[in-house]
Amino acid sequence: MDDPVSLLKNDHAVLLGQLALLEQQVENKETRLALLQALMRDCRVHFRREQVLFEGLRTALGSGGQSLDSLVQEHRELEEKIVKLMEAMQGTCQHTIPDPEEIHTLIGQFQTHIRHEETVVFVLAGTRLTLAERQNIANQMLMR
Ligand SMILES: [Fe+2]
Ligand SMILES: [Fe+2]
Repeated sequence: MDDPVSLLKNDHAVLLGQLALLEQQVENKETRLALLQALMRDCRVHFRREQVLFEGLRTALGSGGQSLDSLVQEHRELEEKIVKLMEAMQGTCQHTIPDPEEIHTLIGQFQTHIRHEETVVFVLAGTRLTLAERQNIANQMLMR
């Protein structure tokens, strides 16, 4: 069976790999822009998939599921940061390169976010959802 947590962990590995590449490409503007665009695309798919898990978990946890809202808020903030970095690079100055410090901050926020999901949310998903619920969530994720 497809496991929603495994699917999301695979996404995390891909996203962390993209972030590591992004950090290495300090000088190459075109590569950085292409990496940011790929990151944005993959993030949006990942966040939509995660939304399916969060909805399933909210139902299973009842009022205990409210802390998931802060993760959804972080998804918005991460997306906004990526968009800002892309806009900076597509600005009137052709040689604009995002401040390495901003890239570094983005990576740190992503890592913290992913760690929280893997150590808390995914553990809850593994213990509080039935096999049938997990299968159903995985099926819905793959359609997003
Ligand atoms: Fe997330
Ligand atoms: Fe995630």
